[in-house]
Amino acid sequence: MLEQEIETKEKEILVDRQGEVLTGASPHKLSKSFYIESYGCAMNFSDSEIVASILNKEGYGPTKEMDQADLVLINTCSIREKAEDTIRQRLTVFNKAKRENKKLVIGVLGCMAERLKTKLMEEEKLVDLVVGPDAYRELPGLVNAALTGQKGINVLLSREETYDDITPLRLESNGVLAYISIMRGCDNMCSFCVVPFTRGRERSRNAFTIVAEAQDVFDRGYKEVTLLGQNVDSYRWENPETGAAVSFAELLVMVAEVNPKLRVRFSTSHPKDITDEVLYAIRDHHNICNYIHLPAQSGNSRILKLMNRTYDRPWYEAKINRIYELIPDCTISSDIITGFCTETEEEHQDTIDLIKWSKFILSYMFYYSERPGTMAARKYEDDIPYETKKRRLAEIVDVQREESRQSNLKDIGRTYEVLVEGNSKKSDLQFKGKTGRFKMVIFDKIPGVLPGDYVMVKIESCNSATLFGHITKKID
Ligand code: SAH
Ligand code: SF4
Ligand code: F3S
Repeated sequence: MLEQEIETKEKEILVDRQGEVLTGASPHKLSKSFYIESYGCAMNFSDSEIVASILNKEGYGPTKEMDQADLVLINTCSIREKAEDTIRQRLTVFNKAKRENKKLVIGVLGCMAERLKTKLMEEEKLVDLVVGPDAYRELPGLVNAALTGQKGINVLLSREETYDDITPLRLESNGVLAYISIMRGCDNMCSFCVVPFTRGRERSRNAFTIVAEAQDVFDRGYKEVTLLGQNVDSYRWENPETGAAVSFAELLVMVAEVNPKLRVRFSTSHPKDITDEVLYAIRDHHNICNYIHLPAQSGNSRILKLMNRTYDRPWYEAKINRIYELIPDCTISSDIITGFCTETEEEHQDTIDLIKWSKFILSYMFYYSERPGTMAARKYEDDIPYETKKRRLAEIVDVQREESRQSNLKDIGRTYEVLVEGNSKKSDLQFKGKTGRFKMVIFDKIPGVLPGDYVMVKIESCNSATLFGHITKKID
């Protein structure tokens, strides 16, 4: 039940964002079409928009129907074993389509392509292309070769590629939220994590192209940008002409200054790297949202050391205190891994205690999944039984749910500025939108208010995941 809930949550994110890539009219005259499914983190979804743009220039238009496509792509995730299992299941469906239509080209992109390389092609005989996250510019050439029956692979990682000059193809016609990659790769070596192996070395994108992209999406009606990176606080771009470096705090301000009506979010922050300058930027700019995703992973210092997170419990608590000191109404969320190698019941209790102490408004919670090649896989035994992992996960999910509910209860009676995102899932008569503090709000539609508008919403009730209220006024 529990796992299903988490899976569903991941799928919802997937479906929401997949719509963005696949709907709307294409700016070019197109002769062929591609279908793309994306899995994993926001950066992978953002990459799919880059892939869509590269293919679009080659005459491929997006389609939502797999059976109408000439090219079927799956942008994959390796973060946990389950993520890879889901993708293998999808590949069996694609392979069936290929058996019915021999001309169909099937390509695997992203982290699983990078991790498994040629092995993926040996395992999945009907896959034509395997392309890693830094090789998407090669995709058109590889697709052309595949059309003549040649299998293609490019999994070279790069120290420079940031796809700077590529404007992602965002095809959603009434788009409100846009995601902008500001860096790629990761130089941290968290012992459990496969990302440094699948995404390569960390590199930051040109600050001016980031600001130009933010300006472009704002000009096209988007009202919120999320700046993406595995560790945004270590963003550092050196201007080759002047030698001057731009820090993440400076970048945040540059993007915030595009327009006061453009909300700015970012993800993910690392507790060891987030600076006071970033907190000042949030405090001093109304349109930089008062919300920080600050994954703790564990509440126990010994486990954090084994995880190679490079901070301990007191350091994490000091960061949280500093955030609440500088920005008292800031909300914080987290990622948690439970059942990491050698974790005791007491250490698990420390994590429960941290969730309560930190007042996270939400956490993305996982049980540990050993990933081949990582430091943890090489050095430590994955010794917590599956049943124990699942029980501990259920416990932290319960604790977090109650914390989320308590946090939401405090919002009842208050009025918040909400950015209208679109229809609520359950009713066309209601809108959904988020407060700056990252709380989802559902409220009745009123005449004259459309997606992309800012409204004031008075909160009347809640559950652990959502606030419910009514519009008190539209903000012009
Ligand atoms: N760069 C981000 C997280 C990227 S991965 C950060 O450092 O916080 C997203 C989340 O997946 C991680 O925060 C972690 O909680 C989880 N995760 C990563 N590897 C995992 C593994 N091997 N097993 C279970 N969860 C994992
Ligand atoms: Fe993985 Fe750690 Fe890098 Fe996040 S910071 S992507 S958890 S190695
Ligand atoms: Fe998954 Fe790769 Fe993102 S492993 S979480 S898609 S960086």
